[in-house]
Amino acid sequence: MKEIYLAQAKHDVSHLPEKGQLSWESPSNIALVKYWGKHGEQLPDNASLSITLKESVSIVDINFRKQEGGGLQFTFEGKPKPEFETRVQKYLDKMKSYFPFLNYLFLELDSRNTFPHSAGIASSASFMSALALSLCTLESYGREMDAGFFKKASFMARLGSGSASRSVFGALAAWGYHPSVSESSDDYACSLSELLPERLKKIHDAVILVNSAAKKVSSSQGHKLMEGHFLAENRIQQATANMAQLLDAIKDEDWKLFAQVVENEALSLHAMMLSSIPGFTLLQQQTLDIIEMIREEREASGLKMAFTLDAGPNIHLLYHDDDRQAVEAFINDKLKPLAEEQRVIFDQMGPGPVLKHLKSYE
Ligand code: DP6
Repeated sequence: MKEIYLAQAKHDVSHLPEKGQLSWESPSNIALVKYWGKHGEQLPDNASLSITLKESVSIVDINFRKQEGGGLQFTFEGKPKPEFETRVQKYLDKMKSYFPFLNYLFLELDSRNTFPHSAGIASSASFMSALALSLCTLESYGREMDAGFFKKASFMARLGSGSASRSVFGALAAWGYHPSVSESSDDYACSLSELLPERLKKIHDAVILVNSAAKKVSSSQGHKLMEGHFLAENRIQQATANMAQLLDAIKDEDWKLFAQVVENEALSLHAMMLSSIPGFTLLQQQTLDIIEMIREEREASGLKMAFTLDAGPNIHLLYHDDDRQAVEAFINDKLKPLAEEQRVIFDQMGPGPVLKHLKSYE
């Protein structure tokens, strides 16, 4: 795919208006089968599967104008943020081999999120997908956003952050080659939404905050520690088997199997961190306490819920729409008091990114 995209590269800005504006809104996602470990140019060691969120989105607003040499002015929530700007600039520099027209375009780029930082919701996935979609919109200005457009955006998002490749698609998305998913590829994610039975189209996700301090170990460092990890080969096999089982659980609406696989994935992710060299612990005491309470409640009530974890201590509690009221009562009565400042973020499966605005000024 890389060679095809490089061959398609546009070297001038004749297809663009003198000036214009565009705005993409793109959601974060929570992985059910975890991407942990990569090689080569942002290629995953195993296939992963995620739910695209609805309310937790990044909004990227871009004012562009033709200018020799190009350039970037980056703001976050309207204010300069040098540490983010460096990352965006680095990404745009990388993108210039695919989008050489960026050398003739000045971008004023502002980004904001609808969710708090370090809350266990990946802003890199929502932001990088919104940015990749924006670049693809500039490239294909005036053309229809077809399946090829989203595939390319997912490829470009992957180069910014692996999990961002999945955020380009709504509801349920997979990234990484897997024998059970015909369209799957290590290069880009694909939508698996058509697999979702009607009653699973509204999975809810409540993020129970345990600690919103910045992570001690970044995802990039974590992925790196998978290189040479003594369990790496087994982890790849486990993730591959879990993916197949989870797809069956979804198709068959087997919530028990769904919960079993999703929780196994979350705990395996953290087991890999614990057993890396050097090992590290992102789980906290309250994380474990909350997990125990969820298991006890499920045992007693049979509620359709399952926990998962990102690379951090905060809990994502996924639940079936059938049990929404009862699970939310359980969260508010029992889990919320254990959360940091009693903070819980309620979200659910969503339809994916939206182009909010596209306007030209000649
Ligand atoms: C634990 O996508 O943040 O959230 O590709 O280095 O940007 P980079 O990593 P990133 O890793 C996400 C890891 C995870 C699991 C997942 O989302 O699949």
